[in-house]
Amino acid sequence: MRTLIVYHSHSGHTRTLAEKVGEACGANLVEVKPRTPYGRLSAYLRGTPRARHREVDEIEPDVIDVSAYDRIVIATPVWGGHPTPVINGAVAALQGAGGKSAVLFVTCGANPGESFSVLREALTARGVSVVGEFSFSRKELGDAVRIGALVEAVRGQAPG
Ligand SMILES: Cc1cc2nc3c(=O)[nH]c(=O)nc-3n(C[C@H](O)[C@H](O)[C@H](O)COP(=O)(O)O)c2cc1C
Repeated sequence: MRTLIVYHSHSGHTRTLAEKVGEACGANLVEVKPRTPYGRLSAYLRGTPRARHREVDEIEPDVIDVSAYDRIVIATPVWGGHPTPVINGAVAALQGAGGKSAVLFVTCGANPGESFSVLREALTARGVSVVGEFSFSRKELGDAVRIGALVEAVRGQAPG
């Protein structure tokens, strides 16, 4: 199964996990970055309200063509109980995504909040069906069993 992991990471946790999953699954990775970067403070002052309002940042790369892949993985930190505006930008930038399946994972301090429902809604609107959702709190980031379950879900058969 050809798999692309599309992720945003502000402080590195999501990147570390994306790289682990990518290695285990032989997946390609795309790291998305905001065109206007967030600093430590602006992530809270500007990023969190934008996340809560489900806003969409301009990102690099501005187009993410997934037509060559069978499975997409979307990964984000949780900001204010929501996916980041940067990963919202990534979902908006997907091309050739219709009919594909996606596995989601988020990293958070403690609680994913509304992250999955927001991402699921945005992906469904792009014609993508979500087939797995995994949340990693700070304590769970190194949990081998949980990471193994994520890897299995990413490796799973594409529908149809
Ligand atoms: C601006 C900001 C807002 C955050 N909001 C939440 C939150 O609402 N709930 C939560 O459990 N963790 C929250 N966190 C913690 C991050 O989701 C967590 O540390 C995550 O693993 C960071 O991923 P990263 O290192 O890939 O950026 C927040 C962190 C930042 C910087």
